Amino acid sequence: MINHRFGALAAGIIAAASLTGFVVTAQAQDPTAVIDARKAELKKAGGATKTIGAFLKDGTGTVADVQAAAATIDGVAKAFPNWWPAGTAVGVAKSEAKPEIWTKADDFKAKTVAFQTEAASLVKVAAGGDKAAIGAQFGKTVGTCKTCHESYRAD
Ligand code: HEC
Repeated sequence: MINHRFGALAAGIIAAASLTGFVVTAQAQDPTAVIDARKAELKKAGGATKTIGAFLKDGTGTVADVQAAAATIDGVAKAFPNWWPAGTAVGVAKSEAKPEIWTKADDFKAKTVAFQTEAASLVKVAAGGDKAAIGAQFGKTVGTCKTCHESYRAD
């Protein structure tokens, strides 16, 4: 009986402690750091698109470079959903993220999923090494970047 009560009390304390831990973690997410980090990652995706674009247009680089660049874009696409906590819109630090990201969250999510789908396909197509196929899939992938930027990235 005493043991049972103690157990329930201990469970309550543990639950309260983990709840507190969560709140602390959420507050510790400094908006400026979040914005700087996502911009740095998005720049990597931008660099990777330049690598693939140059391969397609100018014939510079190798298929291996394209494959590495496709993997970079895919990595950015996979991590992307974690980068948009509330409180990181335009007006905060150097954010260019429009407030519609949060008011039209379903659409932003749909555009994110489209990006992830095309980026994953780009990795597969790049593995095949066929230049024409890479060109076609690259066009679809950068189309998802452009579509999202038009709605959700401030100039
Ligand atoms: C679902 C929406 C979405 C998709 C898809 C998307 N972006 Fe962006 N991108 C944004 C938003 C929003 C910002 C502004 C972020 C900020 O300023 O905090 C941004 C900013 C950027 C920046 C500027 C970073 C900086 O230093 O200011 C680059 C470069 C970029 N994106 C490249 C890309 C590329 C390349 C792709 C596709 C391969 C892509 N993005 C796909 C929404 C998106």
